[in-house]
This record gives sequence, C-alpha cells and structure tokens, in this order.
Amino acid sequence: MTTTTSSSGTAAEQPSEKRDWVALEHKYYQSTFKRNLVMERGEGARVWDANGKEYLDLVAGIATNVLGHAHPNVVRAIQEQATKLIHVSNLYINERQVELAEQLYNLSGGMRSFFSNSGAEANEGAIKLARKYGRLHRNGAFGIISMERSFHGRTLATTAATGQKKYQDTWLPLPEGFKQVPFNDLDAVKAATDNNTIAVLVEAVQGEGGIYPATTEYLQGLRAWCDEQDLILICDEVQAGMGRTGKFFSWENMEVRPDITTMAKGLAGGVPIGAMLAGERADIFEPGDHGTTFGGNPIACAAGVATIRTILDEHLIEHADDMGEYLEGRLQELRSRHSSIITGQRGLGLMRAFDLADPKANDIMDRALERGLLITNAGPSTIRFVPPLIIERSDVDEAMEKIDASLAAL
Ligand SMILES: Cc1ncc(COP(=O)(O)O)c(C=O)c1O
Repeated sequence: MTTTTSSSGTAAEQPSEKRDWVALEHKYYQSTFKRNLVMERGEGARVWDANGKEYLDLVAGIATNVLGHAHPNVVRAIQEQATKLIHVSNLYINERQVELAEQLYNLSGGMRSFFSNSGAEANEGAIKLARKYGRLHRNGAFGIISMERSFHGRTLATTAATGQKKYQDTWLPLPEGFKQVPFNDLDAVKAATDNNTIAVLVEAVQGEGGIYPATTEYLQGLRAWCDEQDLILICDEVQAGMGRTGKFFSWENMEVRPDITTMAKGLAGGVPIGAMLAGERADIFEPGDHGTTFGGNPIACAAGVATIRTILDEHLIEHADDMGEYLEGRLQELRSRHSSIITGQRGLGLMRAFDLADPKANDIMDRALERGLLITNAGPSTIRFVPPLIIERSDVDEAMEKIDASLAAL
C-alpha cells in the first residue's frame, strides 16, 4: 500500500481501507511491549477490540480503571473541565488541584499532596523528600531500605528501589543508596539499618511481585522502628490504593500511618496522574525544591475529584471488600477443582492472585482471552486479579467459568 502523508503526519484518510494497526504499531512504535490486540472502546467492566469482540476486563488497565471504562461521572468531569481550562502550569493555582488535594487530606488524616503524572514520579518525589529530611535532620543520611519482590517504577531511582533483579541488571550502575531485604521480615530491616539509612519504602500489599499483603505485625513493627530510629516510613499505594483492598489506603488495613504515601494508577480513573502525600513530619518541601509541568493538571485533577467522589458516594470501598471476599471464595472452588494446576492463592479485597504449579500464566491468559476474558499475571507462575471496583457477582461468576474452561483446556 502506498500512503501519502498528510499535514497532520498520519497517512491520508482512506475510509474504505481498514488499517492494519498491529503491523503499523510494529513499524512505528518502539519494541517495548509485546502486544497484538487492538482495543477500541470500553464501558463498565467490558472492552471491545477493533473486530468488535467483547471482553470482560479484570485487568482494568492494571489496577487503574477503578470505576471501569467510560464512567459517566469521569467523562462529564473531563468534558466540563476541557471547555474551561486544560492546562495552566503550576505557576498558578488551579481549583481542581486544590479540590483533589483537599479530598486526599481528609481521607489520609491530614497529609498534604504534591501531584505528578505517574507512580514512578510520585516515588521519585518521595525519595527526594526523604533525602531532604536526611539533609536537615540526620547529617545527610540518604539510604533507603526497600523490599525484595517490590516494584516502584521504571525511572533509575525507582528501579534501584525495586527489589527484582530482572528490572535492574541491564541498567547498572543504578543510583546509590538503595538496598533490599526480604518482605515481611522486620528483623531484616533492623539488621540493614545503619547511620546512612533515612527511609523504609514498602508496599502494604505487594502488587507486581505477586499480591503479597504485609502482616499487621510487620507494618506496625516498621512504624515503630522508623519512630525509634528517626526514619521516614514511605508506603507505595500506587497499585493497592483507591479502595481496592477494602480501605481507601491499603495501610489502613494494618492500622498504620506512614510519613509519606504515593499514589497513581486509579487516582484519576484512568487519566495519568501521580500523587505524593506527606504527613506533618515529612512535609518539608519549600518553593524550588521540586516541580513538574503537567503534574496536577486541571483535567487529571477533575477526573481525580470525580473518581474519589464516585467511590465514596457509591460505597465502592465496601463493595470492593464484598466482591473481594466473593472472588476469594470462587477462587477457592476453582483451586479444589484444579488442585494439580493451582497451588496457592492470596490477596486482600479486589487484589487477588493464584499460583500455578508450572510457569503457564501466559498460556492461561491466552486461553482466557480466546474466551473473552482479560486477566493478567505477576511473573510466569502467578495469575493476578485487579478488576475495576464496580464488578458484580455475575462478572466474577462469568470469569470463573471462563478460567475453569481455560484450565481444563491446558
Ligand atoms: C506499587 C507500584 N509502584 C509504582 C509503580 C509505577 O507506576 P507507573 O507505571 O505509573 O510509573 C507501579 C506500577 O505498576 C506499582 O505497582
């Protein structure tokens, strides 16, 4: 096919000819993602591909579309804001940004926000804030202890904080000052603490690492250790936050309050955003310390305000808790029917996983896809569920039937 390029930079419109998006993606997009499915639209917990095939979506943009697709409240908020002010920079106050910060302040018991565009960036902000605390109060200490199997992002510093070698090896040398210790092991954190340590960074429920909740004893132990040693406790809520675990913040399950918490993914219902929240002790940024062009942009914040309002008005945190319990029960049944394939399960709320005897997660995902179900993995031997908070029992039942058939066909 010969294409003429229009002034817009895209091939001239040829309505009668269907474009081969897969081939075009391979030609024009860098090879960072292995993908062959073209998604076209979504509504609620359903998405449709470019051929019109329908899928039940239990991936939700990887724990991001917390209200499902095209939620009318989010759509309306974006539309209304777009006609008023799309962008204004952080040289000026924008009302939606303050409203979103106010909601988070009230939900977190008094933490103030800084908005960015992604989870990695939110964590970068947390790392910088901890380092500033070290410079002001601890003779320049800058070391951060994070956990094995953790995931904190793809920038160099957050890669250094991520406790999975496969994400680190290619990028050595990484920024200094990061070390990882086993998760749910308080003594390991204590043993790793030295004069240079300034912060402990932890997910209350590890997401990418395979959906491992922290024990209450562990998280409370970390809180007490940080208080005793004058360390900053940072909880990465990027995946586990926004009500998914049956509490707005996953650390509320363990009755712990960190000094800093980071958010992203579901915060604006699918519009890019990140947030770094600091409690009084760590709230020490001054003008000029940190910044961003897009972070806290009016569109993202309008979507965020609408998302949080909807979660609260529609009692979706309680709903996530109920649905999580139901999903857990149905997974248990699935496990007893396929006990030679499924070896374990775990999770909290609507953050669940089951382990496989063999590294067949990709096979199972492919078979589920054929049957019109989107699920994802966490490594080669773990199937992960991070559905939208709006799913209903009938969706869970449909998903279980499709997984049952996929496992039977292995
Ligand atoms: C716990 C956690 N932190 C940070 C990140 C990075 O977020 P982003 O991809 O928005 O940079 C992720 C992404 O999966 C995550 O799960």
